[in-house]
Amino acid sequence: MAYFSRITGTGGYLPERVLSNAELETMVNTTDAWIRERTGISQRHIAADDEFTLDLAEAASRRAIEAAGVRTDDIDLIVVATTTADQVFPSTACLLQSRLGIHGCPAFDIQAVCTGFVYALSVADQFMRSGMASKVLVVGAETFSRIIDWTDRNTCVLFGDGAGAVILERDSEPGILSTHLHADGDYASLLQVPKGVSNQLSAVQQGSAFVEMAGSEVFRMAVKTLGRIADETLAANDMRKDQLDWLIPHQANHRIIAATAKKLSMPMEKVVQTVATHGNTSAASIPLALDVAVRDGRIKQGEHVLMEGFGGGFTWGSALIKW
Ligand code: UT7
Repeated sequence: MAYFSRITGTGGYLPERVLSNAELETMVNTTDAWIRERTGISQRHIAADDEFTLDLAEAASRRAIEAAGVRTDDIDLIVVATTTADQVFPSTACLLQSRLGIHGCPAFDIQAVCTGFVYALSVADQFMRSGMASKVLVVGAETFSRIIDWTDRNTCVLFGDGAGAVILERDSEPGILSTHLHADGDYASLLQVPKGVSNQLSAVQQGSAFVEMAGSEVFRMAVKTLGRIADETLAANDMRKDQLDWLIPHQANHRIIAATAKKLSMPMEKVVQTVATHGNTSAASIPLALDVAVRDGRIKQGEHVLMEGFGGGFTWGSALIKW
């Protein structure tokens, strides 16, 4: 008996507060026109002072659970992708488990920055394929606003807060056709938060507790790498580009998204884009975009959906799904 996983419910949550480009103009030396032209972003959502990654994760999870129509008691694995955990420990997944009133099932976090959701989905799929889990909650949740230097125009215009979640259920046919994960730590310095826990008092480790990014280098690598992983995914499934119905890319920059779509010869109508209104929500961006496209009825049963992400590490990965 082969076990596969299928996404049976999606959920998303964005904090109420919207930060517009116009407001950013009053904070740093930037313009609405520059941000729109170079990134495609017009606004992003920012968590309230008393709102944390766990709150965002819980709201998105409850919506996914409701959409799937599963009982929380039946969930037998929780995986949360986040770079911005509320506490050093317990993991956000354990805190979320308690909020949802679930007891006993394994729960853990995955840290792969903007590729985090794809990593989490892949790990959950391996649990499903091996028979170790049958109903999984997979979440991408971030409060990136907490690790942004709001005086640095190179980064503060790019990111936002949010959470997205899916429920995976066991099926005799795939759902998730394949996942592909990669990393290369040699590129760590191009996109990082240098200070963490262990090195926070170190004089040797220079750098801030905020996101630092060599934007144009990351941009070039992202375009090249996302094109490559799309080819790898199609080859592994013996599929052609024109058999893809939807592309759900990580939402970092509309120019990166457009370049990826061009390499796949996909018209932009087949690309789900939320970057304009969400900004870059790191691990939350793909499940948030998926949730939007599922709820507005764009994605139909039987269609092929390619998700792909790229982020700090560098990490990159993809998931091909038959909806
Ligand atoms: O999610 C993980 C992956 N992350 C990404 O994929 C992000 C990848 N990088 C990018 O999206 C783009 O590189 C950025 C949007 C960050 C920057 O766009 P760019 O076209 O690569 O611009 P640039 O870094 O080459 O900078 C061009 C100019 C610079 O000025 P000079 O040196 O030419 O005088 C920057 O100082 O734009 C300036 N600049 C700004 N100007 C107005 C940088 N940020 C801003 C800003 N407002 N906010």
